Amino acid sequence: MRFIINVSLLKYVTLKFACFIFHFTCLNADIGGNQLRTLENGFWNVRVPFRMVGVEIGTHMSIIRLQNGRFLIIDTVAMNDELKHEFNQLTSNGSNIEAVVAVHPFHTLAYSAFHKLYPNVKYYGTPRHLRKISEIHWAGQLDADENKELLSKWAPEVELRIPDGAEYYNPRPEAINHFVSVFVYHSKSKTLHVDDTLIYIETSIWPINLLLQPGSLIFHPSLIIGLKPDAEAPLQFHKWMNQILKDWNIENLCTAHVGVKVGGAQSAIQKLVNDSEVLFQGISELHSRSRLFSFLVDKFSEPFGQIVEYLSAIIS
Ligand SMILES: [Fe+2]
Repeated sequence: MRFIINVSLLKYVTLKFACFIFHFTCLNADIGGNQLRTLENGFWNVRVPFRMVGVEIGTHMSIIRLQNGRFLIIDTVAMNDELKHEFNQLTSNGSNIEAVVAVHPFHTLAYSAFHKLYPNVKYYGTPRHLRKISEIHWAGQLDADENKELLSKWAPEVELRIPDGAEYYNPRPEAINHFVSVFVYHSKSKTLHVDDTLIYIETSIWPINLLLQPGSLIFHPSLIIGLKPDAEAPLQFHKWMNQILKDWNIENLCTAHVGVKVGGAQSAIQKLVNDSEVLFQGISELHSRSRLFSFLVDKFSEPFGQIVEYLSAIIS
């Protein structure tokens, strides 16, 4: 058991180290220009280029047509003229937008520009969005405590859920802890929109392909610090993932980085969750057996994040 846990943790640490290195490597990876991808049954996923310190990892926005004919926008992206034209045609120049929902605390860059284009729309966001983007008059905060009803505002058509076991209100360190995001499930298209928590490698991107081939699905490398630093958190998150797989019939998966899986998403996520069980148990055991481990995760992730932020700024 201990050997299995160590191998699993070793693989995780290797992956995390590689992802850390990727941040400091200038690369030429092209995943195409702005694209409006139709997944049928009223779901569109917009793919746009986005570089993380030289690495083209892409990002996304989803458009969901509700049964009332209006459109729910999940995340925002910087739109070029062609995409803007398509978007305006679809949404009648934005007049048919039901709401914009910001689901990842650290996906914030495109909101100001999007808000200038569509200022008369209701915007909902994570606590960090509300703290950081003051020019938007937010209609509500997505959270599972005081605003739980907001998560089911468009249910059963569209369900929003926040992972258990992960810090959501104020994820730290900001430079590297991008693990948590609100999961959005559209039942008619059987599509799950999720940002950094899950990463689906749709195409081959060097040097990511040194570790992950197209078709790979992983949790975000900041998983250890994204989960709360206690023995219960990894098990809570694992249980939460299994619950969404019971509740939702997920055929398609749209992840911000690096792509879309059309068909077969349920089994792919289930396999990831099953394969990761030993990792979650291992992290939990480390927290319960070693105060030093909890101390290191809690106290040293912040200075580590600051070092990453500093080096990223130099490279950029
Ligand atoms: Fe991200």
